[in-house]
Amino acid sequence: MKLGRLNHIGVATPSIADSIAHFRNTMGATAITEPFDLPEQGVKVCFVDTPTDSGMNGTQVELIEPLSDASPIAGFLAKNPLGGQHHICFEVEDIEEARQWFEGQGKRILGPTRIGAHGTPIFFLHPKDMMGQLTEIMEVPKDGH
Ligand code: CO
Repeated sequence: MKLGRLNHIGVATPSIADSIAHFRNTMGATAITEPFDLPEQGVKVCFVDTPTDSGMNGTQVELIEPLSDASPIAGFLAKNPLGGQHHICFEVEDIEEARQWFEGQGKRILGPTRIGAHGTPIFFLHPKDMMGQLTEIMEVPKDGH
């Protein structure tokens, strides 16, 4: 497996509206998507784009707000009431190959490979097997984003 681009950093927030205002007003972000619900994951998400000169999409910040107290993000916010960095996500070309690569090293994968917030296959790796970092692996086709 070859590590791909850093696709996004997942940031948990108690209020996606407040976080959008922060990125717009304090950070000067100009490209922020409309928030949308992912009920099967129990979260509302939106993406803050960081621009690049190449014309390729820049690395994003994925803002994540829990839809209910049952959301896994609610537990994170209980420990981090202001929100903060939740996970990092790297691209790979082949999600099955990546899964086998990590499993072959005895790394724990959290649940099945599923369709993530970007509409592409993803899985998460246990932070205790990943130097403390909850890590998302996302399949992105070679020819684009
Ligand atoms: Co993510």
